[in-house]
Amino acid sequence: MSAPLICPSILASDFARLGEEVAALESAGADWVHVDVMDGHFVPNLTIGPDVVKALRPHTRLPFDVHLMVAPVDPWLEAYRNAGADVLSVHPESGPHLHRTLGRIRELGARAGVVLNPGTSVGILDEVIDLVDLVLIMSVNPGFGGQKFIPASLDKIARVRQRLDAAGSKATLQVDGGVTADNAADCVAAGADALVAGTAVFRGGPSTYADNIAALKGH
Ligand code: DX5
Ligand code: ZN
Repeated sequence: MSAPLICPSILASDFARLGEEVAALESAGADWVHVDVMDGHFVPNLTIGPDVVKALRPHTRLPFDVHLMVAPVDPWLEAYRNAGADVLSVHPESGPHLHRTLGRIRELGARAGVVLNPGTSVGILDEVIDLVDLVLIMSVNPGFGGQKFIPASLDKIARVRQRLDAAGSKATLQVDGGVTADNAADCVAAGADALVAGTAVFRGGPSTYADNIAALKGH
């Protein structure tokens, strides 16, 4: 089993020092930077606009993995892509035409991700699997960092892994919410190859980031 990609969520970082925070993640061995975009409507929290992503872009070479919790989502795709997003992930509930939205993300030159909430069935994947470069399984209900990992997510990871393999898909399987060093290995064993973590990376301040990331990788 190879080590998972670690994608720290800057939702848990110090917003007064965001540029330094993303640079510190790169030095600490992070693989991607996970950006949680919330609109105060699709989810009950309000976070990061495209101008902030653009301002962060020169501070690291790591890919920006932008998780859009915004409805309607289509009007925002281009702005986040132009701001420097490498992956754009969308919830099926955030627009009426998931197939078209995923195609549009690829047209913009980004990797297209689909996000499954805890209450969203994995069956929807079958309809769009050829358009998907990443599947993000939410292991909490989206909106806030620091929530507890929902144990049933492990079975869901395994079911999505099976579907991706059966379809010959090379899509990345990412997990987001309540991921810690205690459950990271279980997620990887179930088939995850990328882990998002906010609290578990940032909790102890910059001097702990490298150890926290290593622990999530299983070192
Ligand atoms: C929840 C976000 C997650 C979250 C992760 O809506 O999508 O990325 O911030 O934070 P932790 O790791 O603290 O659960
Ligand atoms: Zn997220």
